[in-house]
Amino acid sequence: MTSPRTRRLAVLASGQGTNLRALLEAQDLGGAIVVVLSDRADAGALEVAREHGVEAEALDPGPSRSRLAGAEEAWLERLARADVDTILLAGFMRILDARFLAAYPGRILNIHPSLLPAFPGTHSIARALEHGVRVTGCTVHLVDAGVDDGPILDQTAVAIHADDTLESLTARMHSAEHALYARAVRAFLTRPFTLAGRRVTWQ
Ligand code: GRF
Repeated sequence: MTSPRTRRLAVLASGQGTNLRALLEAQDLGGAIVVVLSDRADAGALEVAREHGVEAEALDPGPSRSRLAGAEEAWLERLARADVDTILLAGFMRILDARFLAAYPGRILNIHPSLLPAFPGTHSIARALEHGVRVTGCTVHLVDAGVDDGPILDQTAVAIHADDTLESLTARMHSAEHALYARAVRAFLTRPFTLAGRRVTWQ
């Protein structure tokens, strides 16, 4: 049992779950990951959660390919049953609608593999490489109604080398993401901050 004062976190993931693993294995995250939910029954993230003794479940995402449209109620009910107060998106490939966001105002974080606002959306690592940028990186931000939008909590730069391939750059990006997400979650859960417009200032 976690103490009542411990922040209770849910992770939503659609993929292999390397970010989830890094969060589960991070020291002093500032809260406990108590449930992992996926829109895909075959998501590696569910296995990663079970390996770490965390409840994991695939839920029906509804008829849309890109949203949780029409399925929010079951997801919100599952999160409420786990008594979650903060949600971490880690490679979750669905847009959350206003109703979902309103249930956790300012308490949903996402990690994105680019220096936002550059390259939002999908295939961001490949698009940065193809675009020829010299520096890309990763961003942890609060989730709002936009896609990969919302106030930025933290970023890390990753240099692109002349001989990088998609594989080599992706590997470095993942390492950077893993360190960044744990650092950003720890700060979010343990350090006060103010929000002026889009701008986050840590106290
Ligand atoms: C990460 O690159 C994340 O930034 C993006 O999806 C990927 C998920 O990877 N949104 P994993 O499932 O955490 O390994």
